[in-house]
Amino acid sequence: MTDPVISRPENDLPGKPTGASRTTLSHIMTQNDTNLMGTVHGGVIMKLVDDAAGAVAGRHSGGPAVTASMDEMVFLEPVKVGDLVHVHAQCNWTGRSSMEIGVKVMAERWNESTPATRVGTAYLVFAAVDDNGKPRPVPPVVPENDEDRRRHQEAQIRRSHRLARRRAIKESRGA
Ligand SMILES: CC(C)(COP(=O)(O)OP(=O)(O)OC[C@H]1O[C@@H](n2cnc3c(N)ncnc32)[C@H](O)[C@@H]1OP(=O)(O)O)[C@@H](O)C(=O)NCCC(=O)NCCS
Repeated sequence: MTDPVISRPENDLPGKPTGASRTTLSHIMTQNDTNLMGTVHGGVIMKLVDDAAGAVAGRHSGGPAVTASMDEMVFLEPVKVGDLVHVHAQCNWTGRSSMEIGVKVMAERWNESTPATRVGTAYLVFAAVDDNGKPRPVPPVVPENDEDRRRHQEAQIRRSHRLARRRAIKESRGA
């Protein structure tokens, strides 16, 4: 029986498991990373998120990939100087040439062994591109466990919402 969660392949490339491109990027926050309130600037976190997601997109697609959109970037807790931030990223879903990368941001004190807390999440869409910057096909992602399958299913919901929103705005502009 076909797994209903693994969407029909949008090209003939062989599938690639989620674990093959999962990536973690870690960074200690310093005074250089702060905003006027003395906590870490959201843009610093967004850069790390984009970097980690970009590594996953490049690894999954086996070549260059560009950020097409970043949505649902949520900041749950302030990040402080001296926090060791871990940015966990994985490919949740693939289309023909696009990939949704899910990112979880965790923070812990650099010199304490207290558990890390979740400080943010984000979903980014990357498009794999060829040498001319044109979209190229990506291997279908193959979820490996129940959590991957849940993320894959939820990514499909976000994908259909993104498409519906773009279509509705285009229609309202009379395009
Ligand atoms: C992303 C880009 C390659 C898309 O090119 P395009 O000519 O519009 O190509 P398409 O319409 O075929 O889109 C390619 C894929 O990206 C997806 N996509 C494009 N724009 C998107 C957006 N805003 N949000 C989500 N997905 C998007 C499409 O749905 C399509 O997915 P699919 O192939 O899996 O069905 C192009 O817009 C681009 O180069 N953007 C600049 C990227 C960049 O420089 N990023 C860094 C920012 S500093």
